[in-house]
Amino acid sequence: MKLWGGRFRKHTAAEVEEFNSSIQYDHRLWEEDIAGSLAHVKMLASVGVLSAAEADAICQGLKEIHGEIERGEFAFSPEFEDIHMHIEHRLIEKIGPVGGKVHTARSRNDQVALDTHLYVRKQVDEILNLITTLQQELVKKAEANLDVVMPGYTHLQHAQPVLLAHHFLAYVHMLERDRERFLGCRERADMMPLGAGALAGTSFPIDRQQVANELGFAAIYANSLDAVSDRDYILEFLSSAAICLMHLSRLAEELILWSSQEFGFVELDDAYSTGSSIMPQKKNPDVPELVRGKAGRVAGHLMALLMTMKGLPLAYNKDMQEDKEALFDTVDTLTACLSIFAGLIATLKVNRDRMRQAIRGDFSTATDLADYLAKRGLPFREAHAVIGRLVQLCLDQDKILEDLTLEDLQQASPLFESDALKVLTPEAVVAARISYGGTAPEQVKLQLEQVQAMLKSR
Ligand code: ARG
Repeated sequence: MKLWGGRFRKHTAAEVEEFNSSIQYDHRLWEEDIAGSLAHVKMLASVGVLSAAEADAICQGLKEIHGEIERGEFAFSPEFEDIHMHIEHRLIEKIGPVGGKVHTARSRNDQVALDTHLYVRKQVDEILNLITTLQQELVKKAEANLDVVMPGYTHLQHAQPVLLAHHFLAYVHMLERDRERFLGCRERADMMPLGAGALAGTSFPIDRQQVANELGFAAIYANSLDAVSDRDYILEFLSSAAICLMHLSRLAEELILWSSQEFGFVELDDAYSTGSSIMPQKKNPDVPELVRGKAGRVAGHLMALLMTMKGLPLAYNKDMQEDKEALFDTVDTLTACLSIFAGLIATLKVNRDRMRQAIRGDFSTATDLADYLAKRGLPFREAHAVIGRLVQLCLDQDKILEDLTLEDLQQASPLFESDALKVLTPEAVVAARISYGGTAPEQVKLQLEQVQAMLKSR
């Protein structure tokens, strides 16, 4: 007999039972479900809806069920549809009909909303920690490679040299914005829906504030319809995760490129790479490739739930059960990616000589030669043209900028003096980028200190 079976003359078709049930995945809400029920029942007793003896019996039963699930003794079956029905059914089985009082003044609609809020709040806290750990590893890598100069790219073409530390720190800032997005999501998840009933509230004299206090919620939904309709906080979670994974995916892409023979800038640790079943020499970047791949999967979850929600009339519709797999898979995917990347970055080997070699002869000091002329009064656009012709000359004569003599430079423009030759080394070019947020060592050191102070204050 179903918990809702009273008005039905037939059994649910087996196929429907299978199709309708969410227990296969929502069993992971069991702790949240029991915590929510305990708080609800305590409140019902304190407002006199349940007697103290009834509440005690229910709470005792719920605690025993907690133990059963924890020890893996609890049997899940599609017959009871979801975790909420499973626990209520088991409660009645254990303590008798009084167990059925747990659902007084409550609906599964506000119950599932409550559980999911609790779950998201908890997962965000875990993810914030994982982000911090990854940031710490990136900061350590930056600090250990403060003097490493590498080609900076635009369009994946050599552009201007930068410090490798500057590059790593860029990801620390991206991850910091991810943290802020998750914190915003946490704020919206930290609101209690329970007490909305099915959709309209309840006629029982409940005390929603008491339940919110018990469960540590910062706020309560002020509108019962909104409380059971809202999946914004899940969408925000998916969106924050999709953006965070997009960042990890960009880092992944760079690590894949940088560890190729053509770049040779970094080497992944053996523990974080894989071999080939046929080619004995291979060392493959499977881990960053998977992270890059999984970023697409999570973006898909966000799109799927947005599409699910956009046509729904207010209050609960069964479509909303589709939020769970997207949410759970996103939690699993993001936590795995963040955690594995911390280890991968910590063990990453940097090949500073290859990075430095890559800059030689790449003309990436050309902007600074143009700047040199601009600082001596030539309009930048004209200086750009002068250096452009100089680059062309070098290419024609199979020369690099570093080979040019003062006479060569002065032939291009009489504004060049002997100090111009100093501009030509990548180190000088990097050192000159002293604008706030620039790649000059002093600026990068300042950035590093700021980021270290930020992480230390956590
Ligand atoms: N399993 C459902 C879900 O996860 C439970 C919510 C309430 N169900 C209902 N038919 N009113 O969305």
